[in-house]
Amino acid sequence: MKTLVLPPTDQSIQISAEELRKGGVVGIPTETVYGLAGNVFDEGALTKIFSVKERPTFDPLIVHVDQKTLEDLERLGVTDLKSMTPLMKSQADKLMAKFWPGPLTLVLPKNKKIPDLVTSGMNTVAVRMPKHPVALKLISVCDFPIAAPSANRFGRISPTCAQDVFEELGERISFILDGGACEVGLESSVIAIDQSGIPKLLRPGAVSIEEIQSVLGVKILFENKTGASPGQLENHYAPKKPLYLLKKSFLETEVGELAFISNTARVGVLAFFDEAPNEIQNKLRELTSGEITVKALFKDRNLENVARELFSSLRQLDTSSAEVIIAEPFPVQEGLGFAIQDRLRRASQKQVKS
Ligand code: TXA
Ligand code: MG
Repeated sequence: MKTLVLPPTDQSIQISAEELRKGGVVGIPTETVYGLAGNVFDEGALTKIFSVKERPTFDPLIVHVDQKTLEDLERLGVTDLKSMTPLMKSQADKLMAKFWPGPLTLVLPKNKKIPDLVTSGMNTVAVRMPKHPVALKLISVCDFPIAAPSANRFGRISPTCAQDVFEELGERISFILDGGACEVGLESSVIAIDQSGIPKLLRPGAVSIEEIQSVLGVKILFENKTGASPGQLENHYAPKKPLYLLKKSFLETEVGELAFISNTARVGVLAFFDEAPNEIQNKLRELTSGEITVKALFKDRNLENVARELFSSLRQLDTSSAEVIIAEPFPVQEGLGFAIQDRLRRASQKQVKS
């Protein structure tokens, strides 16, 4: 199958909508990461999403809509209002009013029209209204909501531009809608609200815990368990090369902890601390005669820039000549820093002890 990358024109949106109406799947831009879209009510399309991504069906999908009230979600056949208590509704209302369209996903009781494949058989459905104008336009042109997981092969690094989608899924899908580089670069935050209106964070993401707390006026629990959000596996977002996540900055890490670097290894480093890349180079020179690539992502102390560049930097190091990748831990745990460290932790198969 030949994969066409389409410019973000009205005509391309029509072509993509037609493909979705026929039960096909299309790579689409969102403000967070690129998605692999299919008609949420079409079981054939849903099956394609799972097979194209090589994704296990225990990992449920996010439904993308272009409306932002609970009544609209009910009318679209996504959620089930009568299974929601007033407390649950009022907390969901607040989050939708504040963060939609945008990078926040809500887990709510599902409408019976939603196929089990979308929710992995659970009685809840994850839903969000994306902010990217091309995604919104496509959803409004289709007369159904769109199921869309990230457009990468299962477990791999999420795609943040059309070219990334092409590398991940090229030859497997007919169209990728090119909406430019993702503005946010990290997936949406996933929040579940229970019948008592208590919010739980299932996946840290682009909207920070602090922001959600300030809107809801309560403390957010972070449920870092596979059971709460089936897709939250420990090994995810992973490059093909081994990625070692350090406990301390590179310069503070004992040389003994870096024994996995052999004398001739080519090494890539994802750096976040203040030290100059050449200090890292100098220390690495004692350990290897191989080529060294250092990507310093936090020089301007701007969390949003790190989020935007994190996956693409991992991807660059993965396709560089480096044989091993070393990542410093992210030095800031507040705001977006929490989600950045979450992705680093899941991307690393190996963690350095001290
Ligand atoms: O930013 C995003 O959310 C992107 C863009 C494309 O919208 N999508 C995305 O989808 O990240 P995906 O499939 O890569 O991640 C969906 C996450 C998974 O961790 C899954 O377990 C969780 O959402 N999820 C989906 N439905 C759920 C449910 N009913 N209950 C709990 N977690 C759910
Ligand atoms: Mg994903």
